[in-house]
Amino acid sequence: MKKYEVAVIPGDGIGKEVVPESIRLLNTVAVQCGFEISYKHYDYSCEYYKNHGKMMDDDGLKKLRDSDGIFLGAVGYPGVPDHVSLWGLLVPIRRTFQQYVNLRPVKLLKGVDSPLKNPGNIDFYIVRENNEGEYSSIGGRLNEGTEHELVVQESIFTKRGVDRVMKYAYELANKRNKKLTSATKSNGIIHTMPYWDERFKAIGKLYPDVVQSQFHIDILTAHFVTRPHEFDVVVASNLFGDILSDLGPAVIGGMGIAPGANLNPEKEFPSMFEPVHGSAPDIAGKNVANPIASVWTAAMMLTHFGEYEAAALVENAIEQLTAEGNVLTPDLGGNASTVEVTDALIQNIITK
Ligand code: NAI
Ligand code: MG
Repeated sequence: MKKYEVAVIPGDGIGKEVVPESIRLLNTVAVQCGFEISYKHYDYSCEYYKNHGKMMDDDGLKKLRDSDGIFLGAVGYPGVPDHVSLWGLLVPIRRTFQQYVNLRPVKLLKGVDSPLKNPGNIDFYIVRENNEGEYSSIGGRLNEGTEHELVVQESIFTKRGVDRVMKYAYELANKRNKKLTSATKSNGIIHTMPYWDERFKAIGKLYPDVVQSQFHIDILTAHFVTRPHEFDVVVASNLFGDILSDLGPAVIGGMGIAPGANLNPEKEFPSMFEPVHGSAPDIAGKNVANPIASVWTAAMMLTHFGEYEAAALVENAIEQLTAEGNVLTPDLGGNASTVEVTDALIQNIITK
């Protein structure tokens, strides 16, 4: 029997509610499809930071290294600055393990209301560069506190970094509907973004069947609202991808159902699976968080493992649940709890 070892980091807030529920569901689907998952739990979080002055063990990365996948809830807690949780845990994991693709599906599920009047059939992927770009620690301040104060923040775009994420996006588009859109801003950002465009075209030569389009990020955000059904795969730098991947979920019904994966496509290192949403302190501890984002994220992990049948079972269970529409959490207009929604999903899996 195939066995997978998963490192589990529930994190903070609703992460601690949706992660155990996703694991309960994963165990059901594993039995159903004939494989095994074992879990190692890590309490790395902002709470851990409050007690230890750091987000994870000094040898935390070494411990996570041996897993087949890392399953994360969310980190973030009032009182701990967000850059601490990001740069103390998520960024080191994403970069050390070369998880250079942040993959975020944007799909309007049956039965879910979009805030758009005529949304059409929305079903596309955002491929966000996840290791470099605008999120860099290179820069600094001079003459602090004086009239001559000066602040510099550098963006990093390497050939290797840009090409590999472009390749991934083209491959994905090639397998789907053969349309790839690039987010740019080469009119205003005159060094890195023209380079991004250049590599988009260069790598595109390897994929003659894929139709290319590119838009400046400002108008692209407008298109996400006015004609989201036209997209198939969208590739973007770290910052632009970050923005687009909150806008995407907003048009398909919210953060409660938006999954995500940080992938090392070569599988040289473990990939990390985390929903788009954060720790949601406003609803934490109330058993009302929507588990769908985390459960769908678990399905992405199964896909990465090559357990396609299991992944499809989970995705179909989600779609059946929203289509029926009688067991939903408050964010989708229902009054069911986190646990009740998971129970219903598990029921859908068992009765398939
Ligand atoms: P958030 O995603 O936690 O919450 C935004 C809104 O969406 C809130 O109203 C929340 O109640 C709602 N929401 C989110 N997930 C939901 C779910 N599963 N079911 C129902 N409603 C849901 O984003 P926010 O408020 O900007 O950040 C809160 C904390 O989370 C911050 O400390 C932030 O840094 C952190 N964060 C962590 C991330 C991660 O660990 N990957 C990602 C984004 C934010
Ligand atoms: Mg974000």
